Amino acid sequence: MKTEKQKADYNHIAAKLIEYVEQRSTDMADGQYQVASDSYLDEQRWRKEMDKIFKRLPVLVGASSELSEPGRYVTRDFAGVPLLITRLRDGSVRVMLNACAHRGMKVADGQGKCEKFACPYHAWLYGNDGSLQRVYGEATYGQVDKAAMSLTQLPVHEEAGLIFAVLTPGVEIDFKDFYGEMLDDLTSLGFQDWHYCGNRVIQGANWKIAYDGYLEGYHFAAAHPKTINERTHSNVMQFHAHGPHQMIGFPQRTIDKLREVPADELHQYENEGYDFVRALFPNTSIFVAPEITQIAQLIPGPTVGENTTILHFINRKAPETDEDKQANETMMDWLRDVVQVEDYDLGLKAQQGMASGAHKYITFGRNEKGNQYFHRWLEFYLGERDEKPVL
Ligand code: FES
Ligand SMILES: [Fe+2]
Repeated sequence: MKTEKQKADYNHIAAKLIEYVEQRSTDMADGQYQVASDSYLDEQRWRKEMDKIFKRLPVLVGASSELSEPGRYVTRDFAGVPLLITRLRDGSVRVMLNACAHRGMKVADGQGKCEKFACPYHAWLYGNDGSLQRVYGEATYGQVDKAAMSLTQLPVHEEAGLIFAVLTPGVEIDFKDFYGEMLDDLTSLGFQDWHYCGNRVIQGANWKIAYDGYLEGYHFAAAHPKTINERTHSNVMQFHAHGPHQMIGFPQRTIDKLREVPADELHQYENEGYDFVRALFPNTSIFVAPEITQIAQLIPGPTVGENTTILHFINRKAPETDEDKQANETMMDWLRDVVQVEDYDLGLKAQQGMASGAHKYITFGRNEKGNQYFHRWLEFYLGERDEKPVL
């Protein structure tokens, strides 16, 4: 259910999209914006981003539906940080460092269902809440203060069907404050009751080069002529911000039919005339579509010029038949291929161009307002600008 404020926001965004398509225009920033090419290439800048952003602010670590029942767990490497994510019997979620207190070994691998983890190195046994329960051969090893040697917990928050964590233990953060009204919007989608279809993993360039591609539709005609561009108008966007997070509206080719709809009802037509990309700062993009919803989780590294992206796919309902299942698999493969071939392969070439030293700066146009906003927020969190940006 949307709040009155949300309805008003959606109505406004949809009306603007209808108007822009008619006028062949788009939402625009006041001016262009330059970012040093080096900021995508420089290792020190990248380390600073890791330390001040990825290790200090909340990031999405997974979808609630990945851990659909107690006992489920998922392991994940996030920018060099090994994570173990578990669902306990009481329904709560833990995000822990996947590192044994004995000599650091990963106690779990892959994903699955089990309530205890035996470390593969010397068989110390942990509960899925991270508690150390048994030390193999304790009589010879010597006594262990088990309570002090559990797995290290990270700050975690689960809401709106998404799992957020901070990658540094002990950091005090107000998750609700950080996500603000974006959480209301995500809650209204109801992801907490959705089904996890699976994921696809792809590799690409520097995480910001990859992320920039999710924040504008300026590239649709040239880069996605036979795919996205057939469904969606190129270079028409409406940007809406909640703190550093953004909702970016894109008009479908069929948006004209919404001209008949009363202005105060337009909010009901997401995916039936317009779509949204919801961009959670700093590295998550959520694209809701009727066929399947894609949650792109961009994980920087291992070097400045690389990122691994996990494309998570969720759907309103679990597939009922083999055909439904197959349709999901086909859709996931198709979206993976589009993002890999039409976005990430381009990103790798763009990165080569930047690295050639051809241009000291890259320049975002007025139409690339979402990118401008994203880079300004990065600068804010890196301590390079004092004021919080406004859209
Ligand atoms: S490293 Fe885990 S038991 Fe030794
Ligand atoms: Fe794209």
